[in-house]
Amino acid sequence: MTTVLTHPLVTHRVTLMRDINTKPKQFRELVNEITEFLAFEALKNLKTVDVPVTTPVAKTVGKKIDGKIVLVPILRAGMGMVDAMLHVLPYAKVGVLGMQRNEETAEPVPYYSKVPPAKGEELAILIDPMLATGGSAADAIGQLKKLGYKHIVFLNLIAAPEGLAKLEKEYPDVPVFTAARDERLNSHFYIVPGLGDAGDRIFGTL
Ligand code: PRP
Ligand code: URA
Repeated sequence: MTTVLTHPLVTHRVTLMRDINTKPKQFRELVNEITEFLAFEALKNLKTVDVPVTTPVAKTVGKKIDGKIVLVPILRAGMGMVDAMLHVLPYAKVGVLGMQRNEETAEPVPYYSKVPPAKGEELAILIDPMLATGGSAADAIGQLKKLGYKHIVFLNLIAAPEGLAKLEKEYPDVPVFTAARDERLNSHFYIVPGLGDAGDRIFGTL
């Protein structure tokens, strides 16, 4: 299932992020801010456990997040979303998956994997700003399943309909949260209108 965030605080930032005149520093700040909104929406049903707490006034019962969480950015652009995720989930573990698209075919070429195998009921939060053909995200989800993850959610900034359709067909059990569903892919497999190459815009390598 796909959830597209339509809140004005998100759509405003997506518009600024898309702008060709937005420089890497502001681009990274916008990625961070939108990622926190995505996390807020995507994790609203996170399991909690009741815990006693003493306030200066009385004893009461509060809630704490229950369960282990592993963040999995897809290198390189996914790294741009890690700080924001760790800001809201400071105790999460981080594993990484390296993936490079073949420039002609857009096929994902995995080149690195350092993700702790699942031990039980951990939640894996896959993060990547761009979902174009869906090849990279689908390959990443396949790798996480092989590592034993039963609960996976994908957080994304800009999605093409082609990538969303691929994930919905191949992994209907993985919910997708995105800040924008765009129009289409162009002949170079770039998202239209998109924002260009997310990795280059985050790391200033244009
Ligand atoms: C981008 C992006 C995704 C992938 C999406 O990475 O960060 O990982 O493309 O495209 P897809 O849905 O067609 O697979 P890229 O390969 O450009 O590498 P980079 O992050 O190192 O710049
Ligand atoms: N990767 C990007 O960074 N941008 C796109 O539009 C497609 C894939």
